[in-house]
Amino acid sequence: MPGFGGLEAPNGDIPRHSKDGSRDSRGHLPSLMASSYPIAIKFIDVCYKVKVQGTDTQGSSIKRMFTHGSSTPSDQGSTARNQEKTILNNITGMVSPGEMLAILGPSGSGKSTLLNALAGRLRHDRGNFSGTMLANNRKPSKQIAKRTGFVAQDDVLYPHLTVRETLVFCSLLRLPKTLSTKDKISVAESVLSELGLSKCENTIIGNSFMRGISGGERKRVSIAHEMLINPSLLILDEPTSGLDSTAAHRLVSILGSLAQKGKTIVTSMHQPSSRVYQLFDSVLVLSEGRSLYFGKGSEAMGYFESIGFSPSFPMNPADFLLDLANGTWASTSSVSFLLHELAESTRMN
Ligand SMILES: Nc1ncnc2c1ncn2[C@@H]1O[C@H](COP(=O)(O)OP(=O)(O)OP(=O)(O)O)[C@@H](O)[C@H]1O
Ligand SMILES: [Mg+2]
Repeated sequence: MPGFGGLEAPNGDIPRHSKDGSRDSRGHLPSLMASSYPIAIKFIDVCYKVKVQGTDTQGSSIKRMFTHGSSTPSDQGSTARNQEKTILNNITGMVSPGEMLAILGPSGSGKSTLLNALAGRLRHDRGNFSGTMLANNRKPSKQIAKRTGFVAQDDVLYPHLTVRETLVFCSLLRLPKTLSTKDKISVAESVLSELGLSKCENTIIGNSFMRGISGGERKRVSIAHEMLINPSLLILDEPTSGLDSTAAHRLVSILGSLAQKGKTIVTSMHQPSSRVYQLFDSVLVLSEGRSLYFGKGSEAMGYFESIGFSPSFPMNPADFLLDLANGTWASTSSVSFLLHELAESTRMN
């Protein structure tokens, strides 16, 4: 279970307080949101392939009943047994402390799979993983895993607890025994106010049967849940899905401010608004598991313009990139050409 990053030095050589030595109002606790252990992530030529079930599966049998035994070559579920499906195809990129990397792409393009790979959560028995994953130029260690927070696409929270109860309960369970109960509660309170949850601290989480906090607040509670351990690397899968553009902007601004405090943020996003897009330092665009673009968010439009792809009217860069990734902007052959060319050009030196 992850420890409270600000208090546990990984090798004994990391100071027990933030780099500038700042301490918070609790006096003896380190500044909670400051990153005491910066993590830079590099992923080079990452590939992930899975074996697709053969024709003897239950799903395929049901399919055969409806198709009267006829199967098309494109029907991946019912073709040859143990056919391999490539989910990630030579993905390369990096993100440094203080930066926010956004992974954009249509549904099924491999965003969650890549985030799971970055968090070391990919089940190797379920697929064939290859490529190089480096944290601070080394193979990711247990210490890195302890300092990694992962906010999954679907929130898992107890509906009957209030926001405050959720965070205090989690704080008591996840923070190390070396901290007193009072200190653990102080950490929960600090995260609560940092993520703007003070207003709803006594409201229950709720679910579809019981009215509770709003969708945006719910997302922030999930992030707060991970922030309790003061992670240096925060990975978020679609933290803004279901939010309106203002709430999404507010949430991504919070992520931006965490990045400014030295944390490394990697997030996937379906449809960021142009205001949200401007908050990203770098962007990785995926299309069917392949990398369409990796680089600074501010340079993406200029780059595509230089190779002959530009919108005829001013538009949200994220919309344009998603149109390209979906193949709706250019002809399919142009997109195939783009994917091939860009996969080469996005390789790191
Ligand atoms: N273990 C697996 N076995 C078979 N197919 C898989 C497996 N894991 C992922 N896939 C497939 O890989 C593709 C990418 O999945 P992934 O969840 O990464 O997409 P995504 O970009 O996160 O999509 P969304 O935006 O809908 O969340 C999908 O087509 C999915 O069905
Ligand atoms: Mg996903």
